[in-house]
Amino acid sequence: MYPDRVLSGMRPTGSMHLGHYHGVLKNWIKLQHEHECLFMVADWHALTTHYDDPSHMETHVWDMVIDWLAAGVDPKQATLFIQSRVPEHAELHLILSMMTPLGWLERVPTYKEQQEKLTDKDLSTYGFLGYPLLQAADILIYRANQVPVGEDQIPHIEFTREVARRFNHLYGREPGFNEKALAAVKKLGSKKAKLYLELRNRYQEQGEEEALEQAHEIISETQNLTVADRERVFGYLEGSGKMILVEPQSILTEESRLLGLDGQKMSKSYNNAISLRDDEETVTKKIRTMPTDPARVRRTDPGDPNRCPVFSFHRTYSDEKTCDWVVEGCKSAAIGCLECKQPVIDKVNAELKPMQEKAQIYTSDPTLVKNIIADGCERAQKIANDTLRDVREATGLSYS
Ligand code: TRP
Ligand code: SF4
Repeated sequence: MYPDRVLSGMRPTGSMHLGHYHGVLKNWIKLQHEHECLFMVADWHALTTHYDDPSHMETHVWDMVIDWLAAGVDPKQATLFIQSRVPEHAELHLILSMMTPLGWLERVPTYKEQQEKLTDKDLSTYGFLGYPLLQAADILIYRANQVPVGEDQIPHIEFTREVARRFNHLYGREPGFNEKALAAVKKLGSKKAKLYLELRNRYQEQGEEEALEQAHEIISETQNLTVADRERVFGYLEGSGKMILVEPQSILTEESRLLGLDGQKMSKSYNNAISLRDDEETVTKKIRTMPTDPARVRRTDPGDPNRCPVFSFHRTYSDEKTCDWVVEGCKSAAIGCLECKQPVIDKVNAELKPMQEKAQIYTSDPTLVKNIIADGCERAQKIANDTLRDVREATGLSYS
């Protein structure tokens, strides 16, 4: 079978804020220790909605990558790369477009939603309709089995599974499959091959699950099979075809509980964000001037932390004792709002300090970042090429 592999991507929106950190990045940082991970800058995806203004692309890409690194995404553990530097994505997207029913794309919920939301743009474009298929190609080209995404992206992963299933159904039965499978079985060595065929009979004729498991073990133990042959041997065993593309599962990324300065979702475009690059003075000022429970007009008025965006910061940053102190002190008007905000200011600044020191290293020496990305692109491209070779072969395109 194929290896366990995680792929995720973000459109290049420039420097990251605390919402990105507590939502997405902390999750990536955890995953990179547990799985093989690929993290991608989706610059082509940015172009689907911002094709009229490419002027920020370059700075947005590098600012974002620097913040990934500063936050703790580790290029020694994970592969960081840029979508457009691995043009194989485009080839797979094109090939998949031949067999993707138009109706599937029109039915993806983000298509109509975004068109209605972003009214200042003409999104009746070929590229925008194909957004989910490009995303499917991003995932399928690495045969990633897991994709961490936010809730809004779940339909895209479902769509990706459907595309993979259709592809495997159309092309999984390569011409001469039985002959190729048997040739691959021979490579197990004569003893193991004989046992494999016996087990296959037992499974296919008597449905013995145990025989299937044992056969799986034999295949797994064998080191000298190519990926394609391994798939054939697995496919032949169960009477199915070859799994050329892998159907991915989504890993739902919990929305960060941290809200923006005004209590709405934190977003650069709402002007309510704390950037990972905000210096101590800026952070202090942003939090000091942040709105609180509107009921606390005067210092002596009691308040309710649940109506106050500052409390969402406490829930992210403070221990239980401090949270209790806030609830008590706010409801009884024993503490003032500036007093309440101080522990949050300290915690946020302490969190950002090491990140900013790290970001400083990268901003003062951009070749460091470029090298990390060049390296990542090369690694990504290798995997992409392996998949594409099988895809070309399956679709009759690998003739000489
Ligand atoms: N569409 C994703 C978003 O807007 C970004 C993205 C592009 C992506 N390709 C991907 C996410 C592949 C996961 C996997 O957030
Ligand atoms: Fe908000 Fe704290 Fe002021 Fe209460 S005391 S309103 S929780 S800032």
